[in-house]
Amino acid sequence: MTTILAIESSCDETSAAICRDGKILSNITASQKVHEQYGGVVPELASRAHIQNIVPVVNEAVKIADCRLPAVDCIAFTQSPGLIGSLLVGAQFAKSLALSLNKPLIAVHHMQAHVLANLIADKKPSFPFLCLTVSGGHTQIVLCESPTKMKVIGETIDDAAGEAFDKSAKLLGLPYPGGPLIDKYARDGDPKQFSFPEPQIAGLNFSFSGLKTSILYFLQNAGKSNLFKEEFMATEAERKKFIKEHINDICASIQYRIITILLNKLKKACVQTGITDICLAGGVSANSGLRKAFYEMGEKNKWNCFIPDFEYCTDNAAMIAITAYYKYLAGDFSTPDVTVSARVEW
Ligand code: KG4
Ligand code: ZN
Repeated sequence: MTTILAIESSCDETSAAICRDGKILSNITASQKVHEQYGGVVPELASRAHIQNIVPVVNEAVKIADCRLPAVDCIAFTQSPGLIGSLLVGAQFAKSLALSLNKPLIAVHHMQAHVLANLIADKKPSFPFLCLTVSGGHTQIVLCESPTKMKVIGETIDDAAGEAFDKSAKLLGLPYPGGPLIDKYARDGDPKQFSFPEPQIAGLNFSFSGLKTSILYFLQNAGKSNLFKEEFMATEAERKKFIKEHINDICASIQYRIITILLNKLKKACVQTGITDICLAGGVSANSGLRKAFYEMGEKNKWNCFIPDFEYCTDNAAMIAITAYYKYLAGDFSTPDVTVSARVEW
């Protein structure tokens, strides 16, 4: 029997989970509300909130799992990528706990963990599988050959998909994080009402910065054009009126374009590799339009489609725990001098 305590603290969620033999027994996450008023995550405030949250979150995870700390076989934590101060809090806590309990440590890559969140449910993809990971900071197509062997075959060259949602929402005057709000308004809108261009990027890479610019011009012109046109420039009152009257159609049209950018590249990756077990992961996989379009595309192309349960899509420690479980089986432990890294390389 192998029991793992995992800690995730890479951004603005403090999370702890207990996993026993690949089954998640608890997954407790404290979200940080302090950032809402600033329109984005403030790194210094995130680190401080992690320091406040980490002990109660770990205690709760241990309690819910009906476990005791000395019974844990190993302590896992997120090593990279993320906000450096946030990562340091989780790493220092994990190292200190491992030292005091005399247990081994396992360092986990956050993006690999998003992919392996697809191994939490009983119904698992078979290897090799492809995973489209769409979060606030990253957008990647990952080819996963085994739990410990994966490679990135496509990624964004500028903004991430979550950023595309959040920045579009900001242009519409919606609060952060705007992704879920765009999803909500889009449900009652017509995705074909307004047209935003699909970028022509070679290979399996993505780009979202052009979409953001075309939305900016479109709103500046109160819907008359998504190119910069001085003669169409609207007053602020006209812009606000246009947004208010068309919010559902605007959100549906933006969401439609983000989804087609993502899924067209995913389809290309499937054709190129011949792989038919296909997964989604990351916070944006909570988007109802993306989920629906993904399953529809899967049915049409005879893919086996997988999306983790919602609590395992956004940042969580259960995905760190499941990744650590496979690293434990492979004997892939870390030494106490392991350092955290803000960068994404793997
Ligand atoms: O994976 P995640 O929780 O954190 C990172 O690792 O970044 O992803 C957060 C992102 C945010 O950009 C948020 O707006 C987006 O996921 N998101 C959504 C939805 N729920 C969360 N975007 C679109 N529709 C949603 N329903
Ligand atoms: Zn994440």
